[in-house]
Amino acid sequence: MVKVTIDNIQVEVEEGTTILQAARKIGGSVVPPAMCYYSSLAGSGGKCRTCLVKVAHSSARDPRPMPKLVASCCTPVQEGMVVLNQTSHEVVEARKAIVEFLLINHPLDCPVCDQAGECDLQDLSFGYGLEETRYEEDRREFPEIDIGPFIKLHMNRCILCYRCVYLCEQLTEKREHGVLYRGDTSEISTFIRQSIDNEFSGNVIDVCPVGALTDRTFRFKSRVWFLKPMDVHRECPACSGKAVAWMFGEEIQRITGRKDRYGEVEEFICNECRFEKKSRADWVFEGPRKIKRQSVISANHYEKMKKPSIINPIEGTIEQSDNSET
Ligand code: SF4
Ligand code: FES
Repeated sequence: MVKVTIDNIQVEVEEGTTILQAARKIGGSVVPPAMCYYSSLAGSGGKCRTCLVKVAHSSARDPRPMPKLVASCCTPVQEGMVVLNQTSHEVVEARKAIVEFLLINHPLDCPVCDQAGECDLQDLSFGYGLEETRYEEDRREFPEIDIGPFIKLHMNRCILCYRCVYLCEQLTEKREHGVLYRGDTSEISTFIRQSIDNEFSGNVIDVCPVGALTDRTFRFKSRVWFLKPMDVHRECPACSGKAVAWMFGEEIQRITGRKDRYGEVEEFICNECRFEKKSRADWVFEGPRKIKRQSVISANHYEKMKKPSIINPIEGTIEQSDNSET
């Protein structure tokens, strides 16, 4: 085991753990954002640079700082390492620059995008984005493509994180999906525009951190914050059958995998569960899904709201409500 300090909090982790995983062990605002790393996909990480952190002490043996910011998702911790994330001005400035860079081509079409409300880039833009763009060149534009009957590819929104490519490579036997070309002409593609034809292909929708890959059976049906997520399961010969049903009243509008607090799917589900089982009778309902992420989906849930303090206009004093939790 090695001891590492991140944003002044010490944690003990196994040797070989990355800085990002060590920060996730602490939790909260210490955890850097991650747009391309996905713990269940081998080789993911190192592409988007949103997880950059500052290493102020490399290790107990070599206390010199690392000369540049490092990607926390692929840098292993060392004994005595001191890492700065939110507490470093340099990191915050770098993250703002990364968000600006990602938004060069990514359109801010959140009002019409199905991913709105559960989009990592939307959250990052809210936290670190500029109010207006400084970009004056033409943006790259691609036509929308239907990848098979269930998935829509909106390449303008893709940030080339490669998660979907790794997923198709690692979850299914034959590779049908990849990145073509280089630089700003890079493009996610199924080879020769064939549809992704395997029973787990729908998981690319869940792993995509933005709205580049969306569910054609749910497109433009609703906004996620109008839906009620419920944990459901069914007997399925292909997958675990554990999913989340997004309800609008009594109607199931979409099915997704169950995601953890970092937005990563706990168990990948098959296409039959995702796209073909939209009736209440298909599922056993377990209860409401707790959305742990700080997300617009959690908006309007007032249980933990603190009542504001009452300012006494005459005395100028502030009275705290003794029943502040409602
Ligand atoms: S389509 Fe989505 S998951 Fe695939 S590379 Fe682009 S942003 Fe990543
Ligand atoms: S999450 Fe580390 S580089 Fe993308």
